[in-house]
Amino acid sequence: MSFITIEKPAIGVTLLKINRPDALNALNNQIKKDISEHFNSLSKDPETMCIIIAGSNKVFAAGADIKEFAEKGAAEIALENGRAVWQPLRQCSKPIIAAVNGYALGGGCELAMHADIIIAGKNAKFGQPEIKIGIMAGAGGTQNLVRTVGKFKAMKILLTGEPIDAMEAYSMGLASEVVDDDQVLIRAIDLAKKIANLPPIAIRHTKEVVLAGSDTTLEAGILLERKAFELLFDTEDQKEGMRAFIEKRKPNFKGK
Ligand code: CAA
Repeated sequence: MSFITIEKPAIGVTLLKINRPDALNALNNQIKKDISEHFNSLSKDPETMCIIIAGSNKVFAAGADIKEFAEKGAAEIALENGRAVWQPLRQCSKPIIAAVNGYALGGGCELAMHADIIIAGKNAKFGQPEIKIGIMAGAGGTQNLVRTVGKFKAMKILLTGEPIDAMEAYSMGLASEVVDDDQVLIRAIDLAKKIANLPPIAIRHTKEVVLAGSDTTLEAGILLERKAFELLFDTEDQKEGMRAFIEKRKPNFKGK
């Protein structure tokens, strides 16, 4: 049984929805494996330019499945190879938008942080409550959170386990936008459509340089940016984009 549904709400946009309402979309191993495999194939799918990951209009995901974890030992957890599960998301060259309504806790918050843009509903709640059940964030939370909101806010979230609401998340840079709950998916699709219509090679290089650059020195990051910028002048889309501007018409990007 799959807890993931796949939709194509617009040309170039693929929407993955987590659907496990009776457990607040808790990410059991099956869901994590399915998400991982879908990202693997969507990365190679020429019809997908932008990926949206969402829960329902009530909950994004309340974390990993605690019932599945409860009696496991370290060796068993190690064999699950959690890092590999999340790798296709970390390595996805296409933009990812998280559409977050309700709880995004633990692995749910970490899933959202694998995205490039987070659209949060007014009643969204973000947090890393693992500390309250005797563990800690383990799907990138300690690293992504500190890089996103800084040490002192990250520490407060990780060491107390207390959730934060959407506006607080937005004010600390953990959400790109906050909208009414019923607008979350609509806004995410709207942004995804815009991205899907832009030149894919330039989109890919932009994402790659932002992510790789944020993990290196400023000089190395600027060098990466310059090299990627130069390369784009060898694409047909650069010629098309600039000529269309000069000729006052809409560009027709081909991803070449
Ligand atoms: N795992 C398994 N089941 C979960 C779950 C989870 N993370 N979160 C909620 N559920 C289940 C509940 O057990 C409950 O099931 P039953 O009806 O069968 O009892 C159902 O979903 C509804 O949940 P609640 O009754 O608890 O709903 P609530 O509205 O009272 O509370 C909540 C909501 C505050 C989110 C609460 O459910 C909660 O605290 N959940 C756990 C959050 C958490 O600790 N997440 C971190 C998990 S560990 C992790 O994420 C690590 C990692 O990825 C590496």
